[in-house]
Amino acid sequence: MFDAMNTRDDEHWNYFTQDRQYSDLLKQRLNDGVKMDSASTMGRYLNENATGDLAIVDFGGGPGHYYPVIADRYEHGSVDYHSVDIDADNIAFGTCHFGHNAHARFSVGSALDPAEFLVDRNCVISANTLPHIPTIEPLLTAITAAPSVRFFLFRMLIGEECVQIKKHLSDTSFEDLFERGYQHNNIYSLPYLQSLLGETWSLDRLPDLYDIDRLAGHSVPMQATDHFYSNRVSRPVGDMIFKGDIYMPWTFVLGTRTTE
Ligand SMILES: C[S@@+](CC[C@H](N)C(=O)[O-])C[C@H]1O[C@@H](n2cnc3c(N)ncnc32)[C@H](O)[C@@H]1O
Repeated sequence: MFDAMNTRDDEHWNYFTQDRQYSDLLKQRLNDGVKMDSASTMGRYLNENATGDLAIVDFGGGPGHYYPVIADRYEHGSVDYHSVDIDADNIAFGTCHFGHNAHARFSVGSALDPAEFLVDRNCVISANTLPHIPTIEPLLTAITAAPSVRFFLFRMLIGEECVQIKKHLSDTSFEDLFERGYQHNNIYSLPYLQSLLGETWSLDRLPDLYDIDRLAGHSVPMQATDHFYSNRVSRPVGDMIFKGDIYMPWTFVLGTRTTE
């Protein structure tokens, strides 16, 4: 069960520190060489839209399970990869796993305080993380202020309007409802992103690509012992993706700096 009282007082949005099993699942995916659809799509879109050697920073990159997939897909130069994640366990695991590789780096850090991780990077990526943090404003503002950054590619929730969602993470305890123990699933509009970036960036909305049968069969081990966990796992409904009661308009957003 989610233990809301163990979350830091200024980080009620951060359910990740409570979800050790999910953290371990990411490590397992890396160990097993699992190619997530979103990782393959990210590699494909980088290959189709970026040029030259890539110096990537991946916010919410966990133990680096996207790195081999992207490096495998990218054909226009070398790939240097830096995962920045608030989960120290995942960062330690990635550091150990890729210890031999001078092109993979891992740091504990946050997309809410991103500037120091952008200085030597030309490409910022983030998959499946930005809906769950309280704001994307610091990240987009820092990207505009970091001259080295030429591209970004995010898998996030994009709609016609900006919507802040708080999903309560317990079906038995309702203390401090929406104050603690929740997961954000925030949706943003492209005009909002553009307003943060200014006119020197162009934005493209690229479709989320996934195997519908694979998604329909998708489950995580935590569901076996905690039925309520299912409300955090994606499932297809027609051509839409839902998590629990919430429609998740997953979209890839490519940002390209238009000035030299
Ligand atoms: C839903 S997982 C996605 C992991 C991976 N990108 C993927 O798609 O499989 C979100 C990841 O973001 C990390 N995270 C959450 N909030 C973060 C923040 N503010 N800054 C950096 N990482 C964060 C979590 O620890 C977790 O590893």
